[in-house]
Amino acid sequence: MAVNTANSATARAERPRRVTILGSTGSIGQSTIDLLRRNPDEFMVEALTANRNVALLAEQAKMLGARYAAVADPADYAALKEALAGTGIAVGCGPSALVEAAEYPADLVMAAIVGAAGLEPTLTAARRGAIVALANKEALVCAGSLFLREIAKSGATLLPVDSEHNAIWQCFDFTRVEAIEKITLTASGGPFRERALDEMRDVTPEQAVAHPTWRMGAKISIDSATLMNKGLEVIEAHHLFQLPSEQIDVVVHPQSIVHGFVTYCDGSVLAHLGSPDMRTPIAYVLGWPGRTPAPTPRLDLAKAGRLTFEPPDERRFPALRLAREALNQGGCSATVLNAANEIAVYAFMEGRIGFLDIAATVERTLEAVPAGNLESLDDVYDVDRTAREIAAGFAVPRVVAGTAGSTL
Ligand SMILES: NC(=O)c1ccc[n+]([C@@H]2O[C@H](COP(=O)([O-])OP(=O)(O)OC[C@H]3O[C@@H](n4cnc5c(N)ncnc54)[C@H](OP(=O)(O)O)[C@@H]3O)[C@@H](O)[C@H]2O)c1
Repeated sequence: MAVNTANSATARAERPRRVTILGSTGSIGQSTIDLLRRNPDEFMVEALTANRNVALLAEQAKMLGARYAAVADPADYAALKEALAGTGIAVGCGPSALVEAAEYPADLVMAAIVGAAGLEPTLTAARRGAIVALANKEALVCAGSLFLREIAKSGATLLPVDSEHNAIWQCFDFTRVEAIEKITLTASGGPFRERALDEMRDVTPEQAVAHPTWRMGAKISIDSATLMNKGLEVIEAHHLFQLPSEQIDVVVHPQSIVHGFVTYCDGSVLAHLGSPDMRTPIAYVLGWPGRTPAPTPRLDLAKAGRLTFEPPDERRFPALRLAREALNQGGCSATVLNAANEIAVYAFMEGRIGFLDIAATVERTLEAVPAGNLESLDDVYDVDRTAREIAAGFAVPRVVAGTAGSTL
């Protein structure tokens, strides 16, 4: 059992609970802050971080009375310092400042940085035994069992924020794991669910980020459009619930109302439902083991009408297949998959490659990076770096004009 609910008795019961948000200016960060502001007696803020959005970070830090604010990009340090001058809020910049933010004595750290950049600060929070509320799935995907080892060593508590995993966690009987036949993650199918492969060749970043049911950051929106997001989530679920790939199912459910379900050996299926609003799973982790009120639209099933389900199409969305193969392959494959995907997604967003090139870049990188085991976190960082370099070599525009789309 990796989702560590065993510590529920020791989770600091006093209020207010002290919270740090890594990635406070993003979509998850802002939803978290919305909940903190609505429940001011329950929570207080230790530290906040951003990549470059100094203006919003400074505003949040002042509004919440944070003790520390950090930007990842050193170029923004002076601006942050100036924006917080005279407030008594300490400021920092660069990767070490993100780690410093995670060291502040928050009871709960919301890990909401996007991508592998969030790994080190998230591990820092884990190492001091905090409750780690994990939105940053890439950190767990790229470091896998080494990440879990750090959690186990320190006795930290790992709680899933991702709506599907949060849903399954709420339905998962950790005391009778042998009675669980499988878990199922739902996927909206993204904006191109009904598009033919050929029609996806020329889609633009604007079309790809326009998610039909969820409002999210750009990278996860593109991942949802390719279904790589679901692939990353299968790997995340494998680590969180300690189940093999065969016991982790994916079903496309365009309404995004059923978030996940657990099938038991007697045929019972326990599902978690809710409106597609991340404040519901975020509220659950913030107040865990209690519950925190959230102002999310209440589910009206009669109004929702039909709920539909269909199998994912791995031919049109090969990213899901690639993620499963990486999981089954083991070793460093998931690290390579994640790194190559990050490079390819940003290349697509910058208009350097076509939409179908994202999965093609990941596949070619997986073929090019030698298989190997991850013995230490240094291995993770090495493989991540190598995979990024190799993927960047593949994720380049074609020399021949007029060949947008699958160029690889
Ligand atoms: N959004 C959702 O509904 C949702 C649902 C489930 C899981 N998640 C996961 O949660 C994580 C965050 O997603 P999001 O949608 O909130 O992303 P987002 O809106 O893009 O926000 C990302 C946050 O990370 C910061 N950041 C970006 N690059 C960074 C870097 N290199 N170093 C340090 N900080 C960096 C950003 O700062 P700036 O604002 O300064 O750029 C921002 O605060 C992702 O792993 C995603 O997969 C999101």
